[in-house]
Amino acid sequence: MEVVIVKDAKAGGELIAGAIADLLARKPDALLGVATGSTPLPIYDALIAKVRGGLDASRARICQLDEYVGLPAGHPESYRATVLRQVVEPLGLPAEQFMGPDGSAEDVQGACEAYDKALAEAGGVDLQILGIGTDGHIGFNEPCSSLASRTRIKTLIEQTRIDNARFFDNDIEQVPHHVITQGIGTILDARHLVLLATGEGKAEAVAQTVEGPVASLVPASALQLHPHATVVVDEAAASKL
Ligand code: GLP
Repeated sequence: MEVVIVKDAKAGGELIAGAIADLLARKPDALLGVATGSTPLPIYDALIAKVRGGLDASRARICQLDEYVGLPAGHPESYRATVLRQVVEPLGLPAEQFMGPDGSAEDVQGACEAYDKALAEAGGVDLQILGIGTDGHIGFNEPCSSLASRTRIKTLIEQTRIDNARFFDNDIEQVPHHVITQGIGTILDARHLVLLATGEGKAEAVAQTVEGPVASLVPASALQLHPHATVVVDEAAASKL
């Protein structure tokens, strides 16, 4: 695992957007896995700026990491709507170049299996952007998720629902209980994993991810098993390393 300490979130975003630009230069139709939450926004801002400055990302393909289950179609806080708004549309990509799990499917388990299969059939994820939850989760793989897990339905723990209530009018009652997430095994299939963590609130989770044992209690520690994993942290998130 490679750990890069940067000054702040903006520098982290620029560094990772640079890696994405290099990837697109080598492989214009690369499949880019994107994460939601606040942390990756500086990556998307930097990437969008590069595209406005002339980077050709027109053939890039985008895929989701996870999704809420049961939000009405088109809900602005569904991860599909969020990724469309934050990444796909600003990059000027057509919806056909964007894939994600169907959180409103009647057969949720079937939707999970279909998505796992679709990722493999698309050739696999070239670069997966990850954030990290305060409890060390990646995607929505909460502590005690199997390190070999595939895309499946999960129940959110209370802390994650509290953390995400800010996207739902600070009302935890509106935060869904269930989600679809790429499994840890699915995430590890990506060719390059890039985790960005910023702010002091992530320092403990980062320390356990990087310096702790590989353990299902800290799902992000599975990155230690990957041959090409990069952890980018700002000085605050690195403060317990
Ligand atoms: C959610 C997402 C994760 C994300 C996490 C942290 O749980 N499913 O992919 O990493 O939030 O979000 P933030 O970056 O806003 O702290």
